[in-house]
Amino acid sequence: MVAELTKRGVLVSPAVIRAMLAVPRHLFLAGVDHRSAYADRAVIVLRAADATPISSASQPTMVATMLEQLTIAEGHRVLEIGTGTGYNAALLALLVGDSGTVVSVEIEAHLGAKAAETLAAVAPRRIDVVIGDGNFGYPKNAPYDRIIVTAGAREIAAKWVDQLVDGGRMVLPLVDRRGLGSVVVFDKICDQLVRRGAVRCGFLLLCEHATGTD
Ligand SMILES: C[S@@+](CC[C@H](N)C(=O)[O-])C[C@H]1O[C@@H](n2cnc3c(N)ncnc32)[C@H](O)[C@@H]1O
Repeated sequence: MVAELTKRGVLVSPAVIRAMLAVPRHLFLAGVDHRSAYADRAVIVLRAADATPISSASQPTMVATMLEQLTIAEGHRVLEIGTGTGYNAALLALLVGDSGTVVSVEIEAHLGAKAAETLAAVAPRRIDVVIGDGNFGYPKNAPYDRIIVTAGAREIAAKWVDQLVDGGRMVLPLVDRRGLGSVVVFDKICDQLVRRGAVRCGFLLLCEHATGTD
């Protein structure tokens, strides 16, 4: 998977490559065969009663793209919205190193608990998984140097901007109601968001209430 992403120029920076080599994606995808776990596809892990997908491990190309856009350095304080399987949180933890922190917010309690369990067993360092509505960010640990939203947002929540340090960066998918849109990079400069770039994407939508079934 990493060799393929590197060959295609999706993975570029040594730190992100090292992190993706170090974190075994299959451990976050219980019951999924090895081949599917390392294919360049999103894997749905939770559906609503009517079978609508609620949570997935995002496509590796998208995970790598967003991590490259995020330009994390050691020591950064990072907020992730949408823990899902916990795979991306594990990658974030490697990127921030021992001196950094990662807090990840998940709205589906059962998913968040499962991700926290996997992370405790697999991740090299502590990651705080918080159950709640990520539209409010997580003020307790703010401000953050980096914010990454891994579900499709219809707009930029004011709380995310408030909780980002000046000079900080936020990467998020801004999408329409079908989940189609672009992953956009914003830098916060003098309290203004400056748009840096965008890549087309499709994402599961950010929601306001937990709706999942097991
Ligand atoms: C595409 S998945 C995230 C993938 C995840 N980062 C991973 O590595 O597996 C999107 C996640 O966002 C969660 N989510 C949706 N709305 C949310 C909200 N308002 N607050 C927090 N999490 C939310 C969903 O339950 C789902 O688990």
